[in-house]
Amino acid sequence: MASGVVLKLLLFSLIGAYLTHGVRGGDPYLFFTWNLTYATLSPLGVPQQLILINGQFPGPSINSTTNNNIVINVFNNLDDPFLFTWSGIQQRKNSWEDGMPGTNCPILPGTNYTYQFQVKDQIGSYIYYPSTALHKAAGGFGALKVHSRPLIPIPYDEPADDYTVLIGDWYTKSHQELKHFLDSGRPLGRPEGVLINGKAGKVGDKQEPLFTMEPGKTYKYRICNVGLKASLNFRIQDHKMKLVEMEGSHTMQNVYVSLDVHVGQCFTVLVTADQTPKDYYIVASTRFLKEVHTSIAIISYTNGKGEASPELPPAPVGWAWSLNQFRTFRWNLTASAARPNPQGSYHYGAINITRTIRLANNVSRANGKLRYGFNGVSHTDPTTPLKLAEYFKVADKVFKYDLMKDEPEMSTDLTVQPNVLNMTFRNFVEIIFENHEKSLQSYQVNGYSFFAVAVEPGTWSPEKRMNYNLQDAVSRHTIQVFPKSWAAILLTFDNAGMWNIRSEIWDRAYLGQQLYTSILSPEKSLRDEYNIPENTLLCGIVEGMPKLPSYT
Ligand SMILES: *[C@@H]1O[C@H](CO)[C@@H](O)[C@H](O)[C@H]1NC(C)=O
Ligand SMILES: *[C@@H]1O[C@H](CO)[C@@H](O)[C@H](O)[C@H]1NC(C)=O
Ligand SMILES: *[C@@H]1O[C@H](CO)[C@@H](O)[C@H](O)[C@H]1NC(C)=O
Ligand SMILES: *[C@@H]1O[C@H](CO)[C@@H](O)[C@H](O)[C@H]1NC(C)=O
Ligand SMILES: *[C@@H]1O[C@H](CO)[C@@H](O)[C@H](O)[C@H]1NC(C)=O
Ligand SMILES: *[C@@H]1O[C@H](CO)[C@@H](O)[C@H](O)[C@H]1NC(C)=O
Ligand SMILES: *[C@@H]1O[C@H](CO)[C@@H](O)[C@H](O)[C@H]1NC(C)=O
Repeated sequence: MASGVVLKLLLFSLIGAYLTHGVRGGDPYLFFTWNLTYATLSPLGVPQQLILINGQFPGPSINSTTNNNIVINVFNNLDDPFLFTWSGIQQRKNSWEDGMPGTNCPILPGTNYTYQFQVKDQIGSYIYYPSTALHKAAGGFGALKVHSRPLIPIPYDEPADDYTVLIGDWYTKSHQELKHFLDSGRPLGRPEGVLINGKAGKVGDKQEPLFTMEPGKTYKYRICNVGLKASLNFRIQDHKMKLVEMEGSHTMQNVYVSLDVHVGQCFTVLVTADQTPKDYYIVASTRFLKEVHTSIAIISYTNGKGEASPELPPAPVGWAWSLNQFRTFRWNLTASAARPNPQGSYHYGAINITRTIRLANNVSRANGKLRYGFNGVSHTDPTTPLKLAEYFKVADKVFKYDLMKDEPEMSTDLTVQPNVLNMTFRNFVEIIFENHEKSLQSYQVNGYSFFAVAVEPGTWSPEKRMNYNLQDAVSRHTIQVFPKSWAAILLTFDNAGMWNIRSEIWDRAYLGQQLYTSILSPEKSLRDEYNIPENTLLCGIVEGMPKLPSYT
């Protein structure tokens, strides 16, 4: 009947509209409204300006399930342009919502923007945080959990509860002040403390328990490092942690007494309440810094009697321990779980490498200006986001492709310019992070997970490929590189879009140690990349430009 046809047409056009937005019909929607405001709080005992989301610091947790559509209307009531990025969420075909300054125009003060994305084929513990300026130093971060769909078995029993532990180093200076340091050529300096879910705790403090456990039951703890610079060691008095998931992959379930969590990384562990019922401290302490900062929080047993022992378990010493721990991480190849691009994820060791990119960590102090970079190039964000310049076909007015070489070359100075690599769609690429410095690095790739096949001391050379783990390296999005060491990752560039690769050490990223990879599918097709969303903000030279005809 006629009305039925009209209804069907309506439905189709609705689904069509969602498709072009990169949000899929059929899968459930989660809607959020977030209000960003400043407030004065004193997490380290000194009043300072923080960034709150709906009055919360850290921000609200997003609790989702594989394939959920997430719609977040963000109202920026700060005095600065602002963006969130969804760390580890792959945004398949949808770099439009990645929230990096190279993909999105910032949300201007007093305005709002609605992010719409799907947590397609992913599971695991993730975080979101500000990608603009030094806002991350003031908050605006939180947890993003992606549960397995009910029908997909997980390789462990359903835990009694699900706890999020966001740990990070902390500064008492405002984000403006820290940004001013970096803009004027000064270093950020060392962190002044450590926060656990927004609070600093000392042994003996009277404080409410952060979490409660029932004797005999097993709990899931999701531990993520949301800090700016410092690697942290995480441990729980008298309790062991069984690692079950890391950055979206089920791992072999090894048991750890403590875990080194580098900036940007997340671990999911199971903890069984199998000790005398009383209070215990959880501990997060900085690693590899001259001055160690430690913070504690209390976990209680229900009906427990007695305070936590004042004796904290010791942190490991040196980075060799941390390297050995990395080597114990293995992907559980038999665990079923949603994963993006399953074709590319099995037997990755058998795929021929088509391109090798060696990225050497550079630092420069030329003319009293501190800059960081890769292979002689220090990235700077143009006012027109790279992705939008490319989409509106004005890339030549904004940046040049491939200014950086695929290997480091001897040079005396860093060139400051947008750093964009043109990648061939679906190429299988090897990236080597080479750290010639004495400090530890942590690097993240947006839009993908990669196989972290090796982290080793010394200098990389092609023979080192003999040492790669080509069987069961964990598929993840962030990798640490120890002092005077290197790390190798393998990935298929099959996600069309503009994707950031950066140091997670935040002053380094801010001062240029990042780049973008542009991946264009030869066929302009919705199968490979979604259309630009209708609500995409435009700025710079593309402001006011009409959007191009949609792909079909
Ligand atoms: C956001 O917070 C500001 C400041 O508290 C308030 O004026 C405004 O009404 C809030 N907006 C929304 C949409 O909640
Ligand atoms: C989070 O989501 C999971 C799965 O959808 C659900 O079982 C759980 O109750 C949710 N937790 C909260 C706090 O909403
Ligand atoms: C801003 O919020 C309003 C609802 O208050 C919404 O209708 C509009 O789409 C939002 N703007 C953007 C760009 O997302
Ligand atoms: C790997 O996953 C399988 C399938 O879910 C599970 O039975 C097994 O216990 C896991 N192995 C380890 C070592 O975690
Ligand atoms: C990979 O390279 C080897 C040696 O160059 C070649 O023999 C093999 O056919 C290639 N495999 C694929 C899948 O292209
Ligand atoms: C960057 O690092 C590489 C490797 O250490 C070095 O050869 C090159 O000279 C450095 N360039 C700059 C500008 O520091
Ligand atoms: C990028 O690389 C592709 C091949 O993968 C090539 O067709 C295209 O012309 C290159 N684009 C630019 C701007 O260099």
